[in-house]
Amino acid sequence: VDKKQSPEKLYPQIAQAAGLLAANEAVAFPTETVYGLGANAESDEAVKKIYDAKGRPGDNPLIVHVADQEQALGLVRDIPAYAMKLMNMFWPGALTVILPLKEDRLSPLVTAGLSTVAIRMPDHPIALALIKQAGVPVAAPSANTSGKPSPTEAKHVVLDLDGKIAGIIDGGATGVGVESTVLDCTKPIPVILRPGGVTKEQLEGAVGRVELDGGLADESAVPISPGMKYTHYAPNAPMTIVKGSRAFLQQTVDEARSQGMKTGILTVEEHKNLYRADAVIACGSLSQPESVAANLYRVLRQFNEREDLDLIFSESFSEEGVGLAVMNRLMKAAGHRVRSE
Ligand code: TXA
Ligand code: MG
Repeated sequence: VDKKQSPEKLYPQIAQAAGLLAANEAVAFPTETVYGLGANAESDEAVKKIYDAKGRPGDNPLIVHVADQEQALGLVRDIPAYAMKLMNMFWPGALTVILPLKEDRLSPLVTAGLSTVAIRMPDHPIALALIKQAGVPVAAPSANTSGKPSPTEAKHVVLDLDGKIAGIIDGGATGVGVESTVLDCTKPIPVILRPGGVTKEQLEGAVGRVELDGGLADESAVPISPGMKYTHYAPNAPMTIVKGSRAFLQQTVDEARSQGMKTGILTVEEHKNLYRADAVIACGSLSQPESVAANLYRVLRQFNEREDLDLIFSESFSEEGVGLAVMNRLMKAAGHRVRSE
């Protein structure tokens, strides 16, 4: 379904999924960023099913999804004025705020024992209806196997988690395509722990100064967000990000090919006919940076289907706007391997 349409056709499925959540089962559902794997955030039994299905390390806390701001305010304390402003401006939306935990009803498994909690109100009619009907806050990481690209289509969830979860609501392809921005709101100045759908520029426009976690700028620093230390999205064939001209990228690929390697290139619509490789895949269009984000995880999964490839080379993208999130995910997928002209 088009997420802008009302989710009426899916009402029976939403009701069924809400029943499963209330019965402490894990259910996958669409959000505007990526598909989430939801469970009752108040139940240890339910939350454990998320970690088990994903194979997720227990020290990587989950985001609690709420249906409205009021539900969020019941879970946290010491909310700075800037955080209230950001929730008012960007919720529902791709912004996750980290705040001190108030609610003692949440399962400690959700926060991995931390004294803070990550909360967001998704901008998707199916997700909002589901959380509301479930009647509990819904813990939900991305609905992928740990280490794989996040799912942007229901079929990605099926490929990763079929047989391991109680159900899935198919709401079509998600819109944003990268996860929410995770913002630490426990400090005087907010800190971006994970760049995402709401951009640094948008946050700065709203509240002035916003910092980037040291772990994002300096790879040797210890990341604050527990999830940032794990390898993510790693394609089967090693990936390298190439910084420089298209001629340099082609030259790099040609060198590998001359050594008998099968190569893939991740590029954009505008450039795809300019390259020669065993697989040239366009990830959106340069003229619409949002389309690169929207297609990124689907394209990374597409490369994984090409089992013949030995090496993948990716173009580098501008870090403006949602480009910051795109480059963050690409760098993780590449294990931070970069080749510069
Ligand atoms: O767009 C999204 O955020 C998607 C959809 C489903 O809402 N969810 C998602 O969840 O990406 P997940 O679990 O894949 O990523 C949550 C991130 C992790 O990097 C985790 O370490 C961080 O948020 N996080 C959660 N609680 C935290 C906390 N209390 N302090 C610092 N980081 C936290
Ligand atoms: Mg994830």
